[in-house]
Amino acid sequence: MTVLKVNGRPVEISNRGDRTLATALREDLGLIGVRVSCAEGECGSCTVLVDNKPMTSCLMLAQQAKGKEIVTIEGMANGDDLHPIQQAFIEEQGFQCGFCTPGLILSTKAFLAENPNPTADEVSVGMSGNICRCGAYPYIVKAVLKAAELMDETATA
Ligand code: FES
Repeated sequence: MTVLKVNGRPVEISNRGDRTLATALREDLGLIGVRVSCAEGECGSCTVLVDNKPMTSCLMLAQQAKGKEIVTIEGMANGDDLHPIQQAFIEEQGFQCGFCTPGLILSTKAFLAENPNPTADEVSVGMSGNICRCGAYPYIVKAVLKAAELMDETATA
């Protein structure tokens, strides 16, 4: 077995060399918030954070993640308290079917860490690696801007 650190905890996955990180997270660990769609790194639905960087987990082998900190959507809330980004997506209705939402929320976390006070145009560019088939982009932009606001309030509280 291979040990990874996922959502702050050490976990064991199969040590098969051919498994992607997305498959290991979903099948070995039951973290089905990792959504796999195109499986070619194009749509961003399988985005997770690896050492705080957004990665398309369908393109990364699980074995490459050894020793790295991985965060999935399941690791964002603090118990019953949603992360401010999750709260913002709900408040601004930044989704329709919700398929793309976990990947978008993780991309938002990395994006706001780099640019905590973005403009709407910067959000559009920053989120361009995550495709929303429902076309909820105007609401997604609002949600990311709201997340920036909520995180700023949290930081200054
Ligand atoms: Fe349906 Fe984005 S909300 S794919």
